[in-house]
Amino acid sequence: MLAVTAAGASADDPLSVLEVGERPRPDVPDGWARVRVRAAALNQHDLWSLRGVGLRADRLPMTLGCDAAGVDDEGREVVVHAVVSDPDWRDDETLDPRRTLLSELHQGTFADEVVVPRRNLVPKPAGLSFEQAACLPTAWLTAYRMLLTQSGAAPGSTVLVQGAGGGVATAAIAIGRAAGYRVWVTSRDEAKRARAVELGADQAFETGARLPDRVDAVLETVGEATWEHSLKALRPGGTVVVSGATSGSRAVTELNRVFFLQLRVVGSTMGTRAELERLVRFCETTGTRPVVDSVLPMASAREGFEKLLAGDVFGKVVLTRP
Ligand SMILES: NC(=O)c1ccc[n+]([C@@H]2O[C@H](COP(=O)([O-])OP(=O)(O)OC[C@H]3O[C@@H](n4cnc5c(N)ncnc54)[C@H](OP(=O)(O)O)[C@@H]3O)[C@@H](O)[C@H]2O)c1
Repeated sequence: MLAVTAAGASADDPLSVLEVGERPRPDVPDGWARVRVRAAALNQHDLWSLRGVGLRADRLPMTLGCDAAGVDDEGREVVVHAVVSDPDWRDDETLDPRRTLLSELHQGTFADEVVVPRRNLVPKPAGLSFEQAACLPTAWLTAYRMLLTQSGAAPGSTVLVQGAGGGVATAAIAIGRAAGYRVWVTSRDEAKRARAVELGADQAFETGARLPDRVDAVLETVGEATWEHSLKALRPGGTVVVSGATSGSRAVTELNRVFFLQLRVVGSTMGTRAELERLVRFCETTGTRPVVDSVLPMASAREGFEKLLAGDVFGKVVLTRP
């Protein structure tokens, strides 16, 4: 079957170890299901894997991809939850110390078929296309959990989203708008600021700009480049939720600000299967749909990786199979 794999690791030139070619069909263990992949979305996670971050050398070659929507072996249209927890784990799957994401231990979704625990399948509603549904399990689920589970900010609150163009950021804008938040965003790029406002942001600011008021929560995925601004933007008692650090993770934190203003710094990763089910229903009932930057045949995956690496995206890059 066709698969997009990491054949090695390269911190400086991640695309040099990207391979698109034939791989054997995976076996299906008891309790697992085979899904014919119709669409799969790219994430920064796939680039990290090519750089050797979070993917051990003894697991190579590894099929990349966390996100997929497709058809299972019983003919049902499904969305795949990417967090694989221990079979005996009964709590929040993201808190299982042994949990992995697809493409870390188990083969990922950029292939004709992916094999996952049956409990990781969530029904896909007919109103969501495969391309839209494939965007939900990583970037959209992460944004959903950051805003609605972790931020503690109720609808009507003001939330700042850093780095308007990213997959998580565009999801946070769209979800925030539909859920009744006042969403402010930052971006270095004027065109992305304009698109963020079209998508539902109340106001868009240049990265690092002084804001008209303090915000209740910040959703942070940019990291080093915006961290200081995120802490300065918060009202006393406000919360910064952080799930990524694209520009670097060695940010300096002014601790005086954290304790004097009683700020909360909350880490967030992916989301539970139950949250994914709720997100799917949220999209169905509100009419909110993932922002798709581009759709490419899976055989042209390299082109999608080049776009992601260049930061030349607004929303998600999706790979499809017939
Ligand atoms: N923990 C989790 O479960 C989880 C899940 C999904 C993603 N993530 C992480 O979250 C991060 C975001 O991923 P993503 O796919 O949404 O988006 P992304 O492609 O990494 O882009 C995020 C945004 O970051 C901004 N940015 C990048 N470098 C910057 C810099 N030097 N200065 C200022 N802004 C900069 C850009 O905004 P502008 O161009 O608009 O300025 C860009 O649109 C990644 O690091 C990813 O690994 C984590």
